[in-house]
Amino acid sequence: MTIPSDQLHLDPDQLDAYWMPFTANRQFKAAPRMVAKAEGMHYWTPEGRRILDGFAGLWCCNAGHNRKPIVEAIQKQAATMDYAPTFQVAQPLAFELANRIVDIAPEGMEHVFFCNSGSEAVDTALKIALAWHRVRGDGGRTRLIGRERGYHGVGFGGISVGGIVANRKMFGAMLAGVDHLPHTHSLEHNAYTRGEPQWGAHLADELERLVALHDASTIAAVIVEPMAGSTGVLMPPVGYLKRLREITKKHGILLIFDEVITAFGRLGGAFSADVYGVVPDMITFAKGVTSGTVPMGGVLVSNAVHDAFMTGPPGAIEIFHGYTYSAHVLACAAGVATLQLYRDEDLFARARKMAPVLEKALHSLKGTRHVIDIRNGGLVGAVELEPRAGAPGTRTYDTYVGCWEKGLLVRQAGEIICFAPALIVEESHIAEMVDTLRAVLARVD
Ligand SMILES: Cc1ncc(COP(=O)(O)O)c(C=O)c1O
Repeated sequence: MTIPSDQLHLDPDQLDAYWMPFTANRQFKAAPRMVAKAEGMHYWTPEGRRILDGFAGLWCCNAGHNRKPIVEAIQKQAATMDYAPTFQVAQPLAFELANRIVDIAPEGMEHVFFCNSGSEAVDTALKIALAWHRVRGDGGRTRLIGRERGYHGVGFGGISVGGIVANRKMFGAMLAGVDHLPHTHSLEHNAYTRGEPQWGAHLADELERLVALHDASTIAAVIVEPMAGSTGVLMPPVGYLKRLREITKKHGILLIFDEVITAFGRLGGAFSADVYGVVPDMITFAKGVTSGTVPMGGVLVSNAVHDAFMTGPPGAIEIFHGYTYSAHVLACAAGVATLQLYRDEDLFARARKMAPVLEKALHSLKGTRHVIDIRNGGLVGAVELEPRAGAPGTRTYDTYVGCWEKGLLVRQAGEIICFAPALIVEESHIAEMVDTLRAVLARVD
């Protein structure tokens, strides 16, 4: 079936060919939610209805939509050179972007391996961890440790260390030799916390239990999201990440922070090191690096990890890993323009400034019917709802759809409604988001 490229309104029989990801396809296609235009804090539907974007697309358009400097950089690059091979050939923008990322990275992290998504970034980091131990003569360290309720994308590595049962149960044995730390979510101890909860740092000590069980000599790396985003905004307990860092260091285990959501301003700093003061061995990133405009991901690697690979004969390839589209030139152009825009508009500082506004507005929902928890940090917030008896997720889905119908895009994660607006968000947008959710909750049963 041919659909003209300028056709905005699709007929029901034109919806079937596209198998949508992480979507109830039949439910969606019976009542599609479409967007066709974006600018600043808003989307527009094909019919021209304006939707306030309370979620920066999908945690990614941190600079806001269709920002001119980024759009122009992509257009210019597309007209100059469409693609450059990535193995044994390079293009200057890849180096420029890597240097710009290193400029804002934690000290001692001066190398970047590029890929195209968060999932690829995670699998890349896990592979670098395994290979790092091997090149240092410690190849027995093959075990990877993730965390319950962790989301690390959808590659086999990512779902293996991830902790979301629905993402794992259909896909066989996944990677062998993986174990998991407990998650840190506790309504009993931490409900209605503003920022990092006081309770929960001791859960990092579970790593000592896993070391005692498996022995450190079998463990390659621990990977966690500093703030677990996709399972509903679980902020790290005070002291938790520091404790993980101490224990991993003590046992010679690499620590990977998956910052696909948190990097580039979401929590008010370039990376979590700026926010929590903890520096891991590797950081995965994606999303905000191009403000969502062109797919890109990457791994920021410490000098100690990188340098261990640079010891063999200079003519030998150091790591047999990479992608046709590693450091794609359009993504690099977008990335350079995005980082420049973050700097020109001081958007990470803006996130810090607006964070208390979001916090206050969200916590004003305490006491609203169905609400059992509210939590936040930086420009991220979550409102957890009481599930309907016997029908998990349905109340929150109805709330999500209700928000859409009232002109607000949020994200549903199980029983949780999540907010993550672009860093350009204004007070009036935040008020509109919270007022809309309040109004929807008043009529959802
Ligand atoms: C922490 C984290 N890691 C990895 C990913 C996967 O990224 P992608 O969807 O670009 O593969 C995500 C996506 O939301 C994420 O939040």
